Parts: sequence; structure tokens; C-alpha cells
Amino acid sequence: MNIAVIGGGYVGVTTSVAFAHSGHRVYLVDNNPHKLAHLSNAQLPFYEEGVKALLQTHVDSGNLTITDDLTATLHHSSIVFITVGTPSQANGQADLSFVNAVARQIGQTMQNEQTIVIKSTVPVGTGKRVKEIIAMELTRRNVDIPFEIVSNPEFLREGKALYDALYPNRIVIGYDSKKAKAVMEQLYNDTNDSILFTSINNAEMIKYASNAFLATKISFVNELARLCERVDADITVVTEGMGQDKRISPLFLQAGVGYGGSCFPKDLQALQQIGQKYGTPMTILQAVENVNHTQVNWFLDKVSQRLGSLHNKHITLLGLAFKPGTDDIRSAPSILVISQLLAQEVQVTVYDPQATSHIKKRFPTIHCATTPLEALHDAHAAILVTEWPEIVNIDWKQAKSFMKESNLFDGRNALSPHYMKQLGFHYEGVGIHG
Ligand code: UDX
Repeated sequence: MNIAVIGGGYVGVTTSVAFAHSGHRVYLVDNNPHKLAHLSNAQLPFYEEGVKALLQTHVDSGNLTITDDLTATLHHSSIVFITVGTPSQANGQADLSFVNAVARQIGQTMQNEQTIVIKSTVPVGTGKRVKEIIAMELTRRNVDIPFEIVSNPEFLREGKALYDALYPNRIVIGYDSKKAKAVMEQLYNDTNDSILFTSINNAEMIKYASNAFLATKISFVNELARLCERVDADITVVTEGMGQDKRISPLFLQAGVGYGGSCFPKDLQALQQIGQKYGTPMTILQAVENVNHTQVNWFLDKVSQRLGSLHNKHITLLGLAFKPGTDDIRSAPSILVISQLLAQEVQVTVYDPQATSHIKKRFPTIHCATTPLEALHDAHAAILVTEWPEIVNIDWKQAKSFMKESNLFDGRNALSPHYMKQLGFHYEGVGIHG
């Protein structure tokens, strides 16, 4: 099929590459000349395993065209994916100005029948609004071109984006006409039994509800971890036991310094705003956010208690990205950790295999090391913030010999407490025996 994808960000690029790889002819449209030039040369504005290579392959093969020409693109295609950003406004509401602008442009330029698929994360009711905008533009032009609206939320995870786009764990399709359903069935091959066909409003809710629920699991275990420390219990064992109940599942029960990223914080805010708008406050989500906001401070208190005054101490952060496999530091716990340490005049050194250039722009005074061992040199303490394999698998024996004091704070419970103590570290994790 000929597919247009509008918005060359994380989701748009990955979606385009995945469709091109599945044999479709894809036109990726963006209006930012800088981005276009980079994408045309297979340069990605983000790090994501495997995407760059496939982008190159499909741009070279001609399966994937990068363009700013929406009119021509719409002429070539009959399915249009909207993948533009929906950032948070100051009050937490999703900013729909990019989605609305794209809807207007489609209405102003389309000449042939289109199925318009909203992949951007949008509040319930947006599909309906996009339909109205396009219909209004067509009326203004005095033309009668049929079009369908579909909601097809994206569930891909950063660091695993290509895999998730090629082999989605579930596909949710919100539609309101037989024609739209038929087009989506053809696109996704109706053999895939993990497709949930539903209303547009349901599909829009499913996306926010899923992210909010996952964040809730994390904050729940993080709060539980604090209690575990008080009652001499171990959160890793408690969650192991909980996870054996199939109704709970062992996933997203990993205690740590909190969740970050471009989705959870933003989507939680947006869902709370939707709740406000409809007079149904999302009280649980308020608590989820509170736990997440205080988790870093709670963890740093442990560091202070151990080191005494942090003033002039040298502390090394191992990992900066909000999770392994990405260079994304948006809402990453590392930002809060660094801010708090700098406020106490700590000498901060950091190591991350991908994200140091981003953090350097934000905190120009910190020292960015190129290897974990270099980062640990002369440190009074190390804080593991992101569980990259190259960090977890450091030669810890050697690492200890590099450090001034052997204090190790594991913010992801990624290391073996037993082994670290055997090596002579003062080791503290999250919700486990000190
Ligand atoms: C999330 C959703 O998983 C994905 O389906 C959606 O499309 C976008 O948002 P992502 O932001 O890439 O994906 O990251 P995810 O793997 O969900 O992790 C989010 C944060 O939670 C990370 O900071 C991670 O470290 C943290 N986390 C995750 C925990 O603290 N504990 C866990 O058990 C799991």
C-alpha cells in the first residue's frame, strides 16, 4: 500500500521504517528543513538500535521517500498516519496544535479519498475533532471527498522501538465506519489476532490508560520499597512473590529511582487534565506522581546519611538516560539527581554510553567521563541511575580500587548486593537490606 506518515519524530520515523520494511511504499513528510536533510542522509536526531540502518536501506531502495511536499504525498497515498508531537502545555494538558494544523492541511490539500490514522497520543475526543476540522476545510473548498478517521495508538518502547514496530504486541484500532475497518484490516493483514477493533474514543483512552497503569505499578512498588526498608523486608523478594500471581505479572514491578521518559510523565499529566475536564479527578494518578517526584530525594537522603555532608564530595553518576538503550534524558531521574547534588556543591562526574552530550548542554559544569572506570576515579560514592549492561558489567573489583571511598548506591537494584558486599563495597539499593 502507499502510506503517508506526517511527522518525522521518534514515532514517525520508526513507523515509516517498519512499514517500508514490510513492503509498503512510504512517504515521510516533515516541514523542518533541517530534519529533512538529516533524515534523507539517514541521520537520526535520536539514538535507537537498528533504525538508522533500516532507514538507510529503505531510503536507498526507494521504498521510503523523505519529503516536505504534503500535497504530492497525499496524491500518491490513500492512508495518512499523523505522528506529530503532542507535548505538555504548562497546565499538563496535551498541546494539540500540531495535530490540528496537520488536519487543516490535509483538508486543504487532499484530492482523493483518504483514511486518516491518528497515531500521536491524543486526549479522548481528538479523532472527532480532527474529523470536524477536515470536513470544515472540504466545505470551505466546496468539494466532497470521502475520508475516514482511525485511531491507532502507538505502544512502542524506546530502546526496543524497531522490534515493537515490526512485531507489535498488540494493535488497537478505533474506527467509526466499515470502510475504515476494511482499510486497516488490509494494512495489518487481518490474520493478526491481537488486533482490537473498537470505537475511536475507546482507542484513545486505551493509550493513556495503559501508560498510567504501568506508571502506577512502578510508583506502587517504589512506595512499598520505602516501607520494606523500615520493616526489614526486601522489595526484590516481595515483588518476586507478587509477580508469581498471573493477575499481577512480574513486569513493571522493578523498584528504583523512579520512571522518566517522554511518555509516562506527560501522559499522566494529560490524563489528569482529561479527568478534570470531565469532573472526574484521577486521584490515584496524583499519588503516583507524588511518589515519583519524591523518589530521587528519598534515595539521595540515603547517600547523605552515609556520607554526612555532601559539600565538596565527589560523586559519580553511572547512567543518565531515562532507561538503557536510548540517549533520551527527558524527565530522566538523572536530571533531578544532578540538580540536587550540584545544589549541595558536590563535584559531579557522569558516565553514559549515549546521553552525555545531552546532559552536558544542560549542566555544563559537570565532568563527563568516557569510560565508567574513568568516571569512578577518586569518587567518594557512585550512584547507578541507568542499568546499561556496560555499567552493570563493570569490573567492580577494579572499580573499587579506583574509588576514594567504596560507597555504591544502586538506584535500579541492578547489581548483586551479596557480591558487592563481598568485594567490600558499602552497598545500598532501593528497598533491600542495607
Ligand atoms: C512507555 C510504554 O512502555 C510504551 O508502551 C509507550 O508507547 C511509551 O511509554 P518508554 O517510555 O519507552 O515506554 O519506557 P518504559 O520501558 O515503559 O519505561 C519507562 C520508565 O519506567 C523508565 O524510566 C524505566 O526505568 C522505568 N521503570 C520501568 C521502572 O522504574 N520500573 C519498572 O519496573 C519498569
